[in-house]
Amino acid sequence: MMNKISEEQKKEFLDELLEFLKFPSISADSSYKDDLNRTADWVSKSLIEAGCDSSEVIKTKGHPIVYGEKIVNREYPTILVYGHYDVQPPDPLDLWSSPPFEPVIKKTEIHPDGAIFARGACDDKGQVYMHIKAFQLMVENNNLNCNVKFMIEGEEEVGSNNLEDFIKKNKERLDADIILISDTGLSNLKNPTLTVGLRGLSYMEIKVKGPNRDLHSGTYGGTIYNPANALAKIISSLIDEEGKITIPGFYDDVVEIDINKRKEIESKSNFNEDSFKESLGINDVEGEDGYTTLERKSIRPTLDVNGLWGGYTGEGSKTVIASEASAKISMRLVPNQDWNKISDLFSDYIKSIIPDSITVDIIKHHGGSPYVTPEDSKGYKCAINAYKDTFGIEPIPQKDGGSIPIVPMFDEVLGLKTILMGFGLDSDSIHSPNEHYGIRNFYIGIETIQNFYKYFGE
Ligand code: BES
Ligand code: MN
Ligand code: MN
Repeated sequence: MMNKISEEQKKEFLDELLEFLKFPSISADSSYKDDLNRTADWVSKSLIEAGCDSSEVIKTKGHPIVYGEKIVNREYPTILVYGHYDVQPPDPLDLWSSPPFEPVIKKTEIHPDGAIFARGACDDKGQVYMHIKAFQLMVENNNLNCNVKFMIEGEEEVGSNNLEDFIKKNKERLDADIILISDTGLSNLKNPTLTVGLRGLSYMEIKVKGPNRDLHSGTYGGTIYNPANALAKIISSLIDEEGKITIPGFYDDVVEIDINKRKEIESKSNFNEDSFKESLGINDVEGEDGYTTLERKSIRPTLDVNGLWGGYTGEGSKTVIASEASAKISMRLVPNQDWNKISDLFSDYIKSIIPDSITVDIIKHHGGSPYVTPEDSKGYKCAINAYKDTFGIEPIPQKDGGSIPIVPMFDEVLGLKTILMGFGLDSDSIHSPNEHYGIRNFYIGIETIQNFYKYFGE
């Protein structure tokens, strides 16, 4: 490794990250608007302190984008680092063992050196901060042999709508050779995976409407189609006994991966189904017939309810038939599914199966395309070498199940490929109470990113 991090610096970097984590930068909730502005200012300042020539906070219709850069030499290759400073809402708050915006370090079985517990620790502030510090070390030690541009946004968790406009209008400024992102995970630190793909997403909401008001479930029960019953039936008809999604046309554009390639992926993988089940406290897995759990969480499309409500959910019992019931549903997509097309197929199918006794409103939320990292590129080879230097072993290429819709947009708009160099663990509870990020993962990330710079600049 090139630049050793002194113990003093390790402590300093960690303290700074804790400061970053104290901002409640919840992009989904407009009451935190000022906090997002303050977080952006803080990120911008930290880019300058790390060694950027310039940095600015760019206003958008939503939350600001932080852009900073250091041009060492126009002849050198340029890396564009992307990340996000916004976080998911922390609720339900009562399930947190410590407040989400008061970071604390605690040891866990998987993180014996300690992990930072806070919303955003892993997704994505902790991982963004690795980049800022890796860059700082390269600058301080005078061995930065490439140009670096940072684009850290505040709306990833709500669909990156304004970033899309920004990249369309700033193609020249964002000119680079590769995009580097740490916003995904790896299997473990002994025998790590390197993310080579992301799933796409279509996020829908259904509202079932029945009678014009809530009704007594005794007086009216059995005479009308209860919207909550209807919703349950609609949802249960979306997946069949074989675990296949029933929406007509849903699989039409899915690229089936060759069976030999599938076997190769499976044999190289260190995914362990027993520890998977144990870590989730479940007795068995479930999913599409004919595919392994690893495949179901990476190369296959899915449909899941993300929220479900209607009627009385308070304490005790209230006998009522609610006039409306709703669900939020995510579909994870794989190459070459088009999220707009899938959203339309979803709407058409729901409309085709509902009886006259109810009506439905279908709302299309955000979405995005899947992404596949080309494995024959310079950037990918540099990533492999960077991991080899850090871990002493070649990483296992593996597709991730999550989505970062701006990644395929970078390809479409800027013509740039992305290297997904994430250091989170599945057990880090992103989007969930008690999100955390291993301190070792943080330092190892800083090391690996520097290795990547070194190879990419060579
Ligand atoms: N960092 C995640 C995406 C992710 C997580 C990729 C784990 C791979 C492994 C990102 O912040 C995220 O949460 N994305 C959303 C989509 C977005 C449009 C809200 C997702 O995947 O649900
Ligand atoms: Mn993220
Ligand atoms: Mn996220």
